[in-house]
Amino acid sequence: MSLSLSQPADLLPWHTFAVPSQARAGITVSDLSELRAVYRDPKWRDMPKLVLGGGSNVLFTEDFDGLVIRNEILGRHLTRGQSEVLLHLGAGENWDEVVRWTLSQGVFGLENLALIPGTVGAAPIQNIGAYGVEFADHCLYVDYLDLETLEIERLDADQCRFGYRDSVFKQELSGRCVITAVGLALPTDWQPKLGYGPLKALESEGTLTADRIYRAIVDVRQAKLPDPARLGNAGSFFKNPVIEQAEFERLQQCFADLPGYPDPSGGIKVPAGWLIDKAGLKGVAIGGASVHQDQALVLVNRGTATAEDLVALARHVVMTVAERYQITLEPEVRILDGQGALCWQA
Ligand code: FAD
Ligand code: EPU
Repeated sequence: MSLSLSQPADLLPWHTFAVPSQARAGITVSDLSELRAVYRDPKWRDMPKLVLGGGSNVLFTEDFDGLVIRNEILGRHLTRGQSEVLLHLGAGENWDEVVRWTLSQGVFGLENLALIPGTVGAAPIQNIGAYGVEFADHCLYVDYLDLETLEIERLDADQCRFGYRDSVFKQELSGRCVITAVGLALPTDWQPKLGYGPLKALESEGTLTADRIYRAIVDVRQAKLPDPARLGNAGSFFKNPVIEQAEFERLQQCFADLPGYPDPSGGIKVPAGWLIDKAGLKGVAIGGASVHQDQALVLVNRGTATAEDLVALARHVVMTVAERYQITLEPEVRILDGQGALCWQA
């Protein structure tokens, strides 16, 4: 076995916020036996452990007092059926590379999830979503290593209890499993999904291909979202709040152009980016952290941000939005303390 171990481990290349931080140790695993070996090794037994994919949804507020396990378990298997194409994917595969690979194989349906950073194994955790499609729409199953028994278990899509930026992996199974593979099903009679805002313009184009939709989404994303390689960030810092219809109507009396979309829960989903933008917070900075100029839902590291700057800015945003609209924003980003526990307090 050739596990690559660093002690201590510099976390800068392992996450996208570009905030300097370290872990006591860091290790990369590339198959199941390596993953199990790490959890069995007495050397690591009593240490906090954190599994990372691309680190594109985390903020380390302190050095991590434990072992970071970087998941590079690869594997892509494709089975063509009459009505569906089935995919079995290793959790360490890069999500966007997989999307492009499916398109190159003539397999369509993931194109709306173009250019989302990170790994396949993290996709079910917050049920990644964009441009009218969610991971849940195509999920067949999720395989994970149960950290008590070290056996592989499989959950079907219903058992994953997917919701908006939510799943059983953020709830009961949080900290108790490592996702090792996912199974997806994509229909062979592909239909484009163009319902989401900027995609509607494509309807007039006549014959549309999945590649065309992929490229259109890449263009929109590149125009709005900062590239983490240039400007540290973790995508949307907050979730879009879902409020009650009566509350939405009350707010519309003061803010007539407030957008809102019916949510399957029965409430109305309101774009947090709009709330933050219209509160005049675009570009507002604390230390080296600022609210992104092109997409107010994204907090960015302008190069020198500390985790304290980012957390102070996030609190300022939450307080300003609460005062103005009586809505409490919740972070989407996993804000972690030195033990790997979530530590956000507004
Ligand atoms: P990480 O950040 O490494 O991990 C996230 C969490 O999952 C951590 O708590 C980690 O411990 C846990 N974890 C990771 N892998 C495993 C595993 N195998 N088993 C158990 N736990 C694990 N998200 C969207 O939904 N839609 C978007 O459109 C979108 N756009 C983004 C744009 C940008 C520019 C950025 C930076 C982020 C964006 N995100 C988006 C957020 C992010 O890409 C997703 O949350 C992605 O799924 C994170 O993957 P990752 O591998 O980087 O996870
Ligand atoms: N808006 C503004 N000002 C802003 C930002 C947005 O007015 O600064 C308005 C837009 O004009 C639009 C609405 O808010 O009317 C929604 O904006 P956008 O389409 O950019 O989407 P979002 O709600 O800000 C969500 C996801 C993104 C995902 C996009 C596309 C969440 C928390 N974020 O953003 O996911 O890519 O939709 O589907 O749900 C992520 O999770 O990290 C992420 C980037």
